[in-house]
Amino acid sequence: MANGGIALIDRAAAADRLPEFERLLEMALTAQSRARAPYSGFHVGAAVLGGSGSAYPGCNVESASYGATICAERSAVVGAVAAGETAIRACVVVTPTADPSSPCGICRQLLAEFGGEMLIFAASSVGGGVYVARLADLLPLSFGPGNLAAAEPAADGDAASGAAAGPTSDSAEDR
Ligand code: THU
Repeated sequence: MANGGIALIDRAAAADRLPEFERLLEMALTAQSRARAPYSGFHVGAAVLGGSGSAYPGCNVESASYGATICAERSAVVGAVAAGETAIRACVVVTPTADPSSPCGICRQLLAEFGGEMLIFAASSVGGGVYVARLADLLPLSFGPGNLAAAEPAADGDAASGAAAGPTSDSAEDR
């Protein structure tokens, strides 16, 4: 990836950053082997660490209607939330590129719902290098619930603008 000064480290160093790294990596590699990617041929696996300490797998699932495709990271988030997690502490993504590929913009945005301190590990299924970064460093100046809350009322009195669009009790700001 265009690494913005983020260094490539080995798996042992990644485990030093997060004790659960190896467990998440194994789960992500297994999920990658189950990816459904008949159109791109690009198989991606992910695993997220929930606030409870449990881990959840995800893989990309492609559709013939390409826009309906879901990435591995977002499918892992969906699994974690469906299982009852309200916090996500880390995400490991595995791609078949020797230089690890980091999460796409849409996935970064969804992960940001769970806070910028989350650790993101981009690993490879064909090499041993790992990039690790805080989510906030991968998505600076991100859009979030604070932006919705800060909206000024529309001049035309549109009822959907301003305070009516503020965050709900589900937002990351409440945690
Ligand atoms: N993909 C992911 O699963 N995660 C990402 O962060 C980037 C891309 C998937 C989507 C699609 O199935 C394939 O990789 C090629 O873009």
